[in-house]
Amino acid sequence: MSLQEQCPILHFADLGDERGKLVVIEGDQAIPFDIKRVFYIYDSDATVVRGQHANRQSEFVLINVAGHSKVRLTNGKEEYIVSLDKPMMGVYIPKMIWKDMYDFSSDSVLLVLASTHYDANEYIRDYKEYLEEMD
Ligand code: TYD
Repeated sequence: MSLQEQCPILHFADLGDERGKLVVIEGDQAIPFDIKRVFYIYDSDATVVRGQHANRQSEFVLINVAGHSKVRLTNGKEEYIVSLDKPMMGVYIPKMIWKDMYDFSSDSVLLVLASTHYDANEYIRDYKEYLEEMD
């Protein structure tokens, strides 16, 4: 399976009407896991690169609920860059994919849904170590 197929773009139902938009994301339905953790990143800007890690256990969905950012995904061989710029779209990131988030607009709010509770030990933060494991 190509990296792009492993990390599909997800399109969420927009239940908006004349009062405004409403986007619903249910675990195990619109996304392929049960949501255990939610966090969001804001007040980053175009000068920073975040992420720079892979996770042994966690799966994620990234959604820019406001503003825009980019995520560069790699499995050590292929590279795939996704522009996150719509509240009703996200990207699914399975285990063991290296990710860098960057190019944050000043109004960016990057929502992250995770399949696990936080465990610092499941992070690989050294790219060389990651490449060795993926070999
Ligand atoms: P970090 O992994 O560097 O964030 P990013 O993925 O955006 O680069 O996390 C920043 C700090 O927050 C770090 O000290 C770990 C802590 N943290 C938690 O305690 N729980 C969490 O769920 C997350 C994502 C981070």
